[in-house]
Amino acid sequence: MPLLRLRFPLLSALLLSAVLARASTAALPAYRNPALPLETRADDLLRRLTLDEKLAFTHGASTFSTAGIPRLGIPERWMDDGPHGVREDVLRDSFDPANRHDDYVMCMPVLIDLASTWDPDAATAYGNVIGEEARMRGKDIMLGPGVNIMRTPINGRNSEYFGEDPYLAGRMAVGYIRAVQSHGVASCVKHFVGNDQETQRGSIDVEMDERTLHEIYLPPFKAAVQKGGVWAVMGAYNRFRGQYCCENDALLNGILKKHWGFKGIVISDWHAVHDTDGAVRGGLDVEMGTKRGDYDGFFMAGAFKAGLLSGKYPMSLLDDKVRRSLRVMIATGALDSREPGSICTPEHRAAALRVAEEGIVLLKNSGAALPLDAAKLHTIAVIGENATRLQAYGGDSARIKALYEVSPLEGILHRVGTSLNVITSPGYSSTTGTSPAMIAQALAAAKAADVAIVIGGLIRERPYDCEGMDRASLDLPWGQNDLIRAVVAANPHTIVVLVSGSPVAMDEAWLSRVPAVVEAWYGGSEAGNALAHVLFGDFNPSGKLPCTFPRKLSDSPAHALGAYPGKDGVEHYDEGLLVGYRWFDTKHIEPLFPFGFGLSYTTFAYSNLHVERLATDPDAVAKITIDVTNTGPRDGAEVAELYVHEEHPRLFRPEKELKGFQRVFLKRGETRTLTFLLPRQAFSYYDPVISGWVMDHGRFDILIGASSRDIRATATLDESTAAPRANPG
Ligand code: BGC
Repeated sequence: MPLLRLRFPLLSALLLSAVLARASTAALPAYRNPALPLETRADDLLRRLTLDEKLAFTHGASTFSTAGIPRLGIPERWMDDGPHGVREDVLRDSFDPANRHDDYVMCMPVLIDLASTWDPDAATAYGNVIGEEARMRGKDIMLGPGVNIMRTPINGRNSEYFGEDPYLAGRMAVGYIRAVQSHGVASCVKHFVGNDQETQRGSIDVEMDERTLHEIYLPPFKAAVQKGGVWAVMGAYNRFRGQYCCENDALLNGILKKHWGFKGIVISDWHAVHDTDGAVRGGLDVEMGTKRGDYDGFFMAGAFKAGLLSGKYPMSLLDDKVRRSLRVMIATGALDSREPGSICTPEHRAAALRVAEEGIVLLKNSGAALPLDAAKLHTIAVIGENATRLQAYGGDSARIKALYEVSPLEGILHRVGTSLNVITSPGYSSTTGTSPAMIAQALAAAKAADVAIVIGGLIRERPYDCEGMDRASLDLPWGQNDLIRAVVAANPHTIVVLVSGSPVAMDEAWLSRVPAVVEAWYGGSEAGNALAHVLFGDFNPSGKLPCTFPRKLSDSPAHALGAYPGKDGVEHYDEGLLVGYRWFDTKHIEPLFPFGFGLSYTTFAYSNLHVERLATDPDAVAKITIDVTNTGPRDGAEVAELYVHEEHPRLFRPEKELKGFQRVFLKRGETRTLTFLLPRQAFSYYDPVISGWVMDHGRFDILIGASSRDIRATATLDESTAAPRANPG
């Protein structure tokens, strides 16, 4: 050994440390031993807990944490909002800010902005930011992403979700969740399920048919569980088929835990539990936010204990809930050493900028009004309150104390430096509306400029893009239509930039006259830089709408049918499967801007679509290839969207359904072949009679295009005479 130590000092040190490590882990109790399997550790810890210690896992002990168990070295478990950044710290027993100086973070673009990128890699970059910043802030569980489907364009929380299509929402959520969780932080996908409006969210009873549930509202949650491996699910405020979602046996015990095999925890939304029996038996694991005196007054605290002691509830019921929490704790490394995390690193800033740039959607661009050529301009007018308004610290539970936030105006000023004269005018006010004096000032600015950029839209406050309330209308508020009409009359080179988290209606009187319209969403810390890069052509826009922009609210399905916002406390989803473009396409209603739509400064051509039937592949039914060519003047990215239409389905189906997409960056003149491998699921519908997915022996049209209404190539997969294949799960 001395010889070894002398001649191979490194090797001997390694051997020694391995011996010591083994000796030290052997001395550890099993639950603390990272070398042991997760279930072994969880079982060991569960055996050591007293009844009261077990109950510490089933309910909150502060606004955002459950109690620790110092005797066993179990730390408190800290949760925090939210979807697009780590919320500021609040006081232990209220939502009042703790006023700390060390809880500033990145504000990432809102989730609808992320969805507009149609870029799962961007979702991964985004999730890495959330995970690393959550670690730095000492959080164990991040309360996001939200994957509720956009059923109505006026839902106050549309900005917190991924739009109207279940497949798109699922793909984006999976990338996000895996990335967050790779940093030792659990994601909590929310709000399960049917919390698709804020109006009466605490009581509304959602009724929908079985197919609609399985084809539209469940899939993003299912993807989060089965593909994303999410460790937590948040139950929603509303009722579903008569039972509160956090007490809903069919949803929580049935679908989530039994059918999907979910092994993690169901956390209640804050103050969403109403009854001990309902919660305990209905599948809830952790009750949070209940407003009922002290923490022992929570439904799953003292009352649960009394029921356990009296024999009303078997201990196995408690043990299952606790074991789930232990799994999450162990899986996220809370008992081992974890990465320390980081805040606002250059990588985080780059990710925020990338998502904000990729998410911006160019809605209109006649006469190549954009991009602006700074060298050819002398004066630009920047008009509108959203040019200077900071949006991060809004949106209730989704609000972020951003370390920095570049406003649109700041972004433009950074970009143009002193090369251009920039004049500004507020144009309207979100508190007082638009006065003749404000319009007059805006007109003067527009007239004095070569280009007028009106930056308006909505704000992240009630009743606009904010939790707790839906919007009252689809229209642009505060007299913005009047303002834009006047500005474009004064200066035909007017660019309209909408900063919003939801679709807005656009007045034809200005839309037909302004040459360019941009949907910028709420772009987070880097919002202004991203917008300036798009306006001045440093970044070629590639975002596509993850939701339909209707011409008017009454065109939108839940409103057209009078289903929204429910009647006598019940909301029947009468539109069924026909949500978003599924409705507009099937009913032949012209949207203002269709799902999947977004322009570029270049053009793309699609050619050589081939469909190959894969008879023996267990995972794929068809291989689809198509060439996409950049035929225009600039490098840029295109999102190719693949929809499936079934020609004569046995059960009714929407006109077409998104089943694949790919984002591809192409240099000028470059062509790439894209390949899609479509599983059986892509052709199947949910048959309520057999409670399972079915693929017909039929003919399926494969439609590939640049938007749901811009199909560039079509081919058919004929399965009518095919041998039967196994049903998808
Ligand atoms: C929201 C949740 C949020 C929770 C905690 C609730 O009002 O619906 O999304 O995670 O508050 O802030």
